[in-house]
Amino acid sequence: MVANANRTAPLDCYAGCIAMTGIESGCTIWFTGLSGSGKSTLSTMLAEHLRRHGARVEVLDGDVVRTQLCRGLGFSKADREENIRRVGFVCELLARHGVVAIAAVISPYRSGRDEVRSRIPRFFEIHTHCPIEVLVERDPKGLYQKALTGEIANFTGVSDPYEPPLSPEAVIDSSLQTPQESLSVILRALEAHGLLPPAPLAPNTIS
Ligand code: ADX
Repeated sequence: MVANANRTAPLDCYAGCIAMTGIESGCTIWFTGLSGSGKSTLSTMLAEHLRRHGARVEVLDGDVVRTQLCRGLGFSKADREENIRRVGFVCELLARHGVVAIAAVISPYRSGRDEVRSRIPRFFEIHTHCPIEVLVERDPKGLYQKALTGEIANFTGVSDPYEPPLSPEAVIDSSLQTPQESLSVILRALEAHGLLPPAPLAPNTIS
């Protein structure tokens, strides 16, 4: 990673620090949580933040990978585990080549997440928590309503299980925090795990 000479001094320093502390060597940041809990929003915000600071980043979002890499998979336990296995495989390849791979998939089963964790070095798990009542209230895609009336079967959190991680590297609560506050929590946890240098900016100036 080459620092851009036209950048401002603090940004130069930040990008340089990222290279020195190893984000250049890639890692996998895995968002798990119920539909609508903030995985996609936060993965996009985090990706934009890291890109602005010089990292190469790729986001694998469940809704998107299911149209390509995982097309044809449904929502049975076996299909969800296969979905997670494929996403994990791609994350591993990307991270091996210096990319920050961000996965945003419900990944409801602990066994599936723990399996990818065991295979992927520098694996960082974030649980996007949100109470189900709040998600039913939000319901931007109308899916919870359909799940509650039985129009959609096996819907995670309603008619299918979600097993929260027992010791994720970070937890956010999107019912209590703004997206910006959650992003700050995530960045601090990434720093604490040595995946980012201490931010030179105060939390309320994170952009
Ligand atoms: S996972 O369980 O295999 O990890 P994934 O994150 O890829 O799921 O996809 C979840 C998305 O699929 C949801 O955000 C929602 O838009 C859609 N979806 C459709 N049916 C279901 C279902 N039965 N359970 C959960 N999500 C569903």
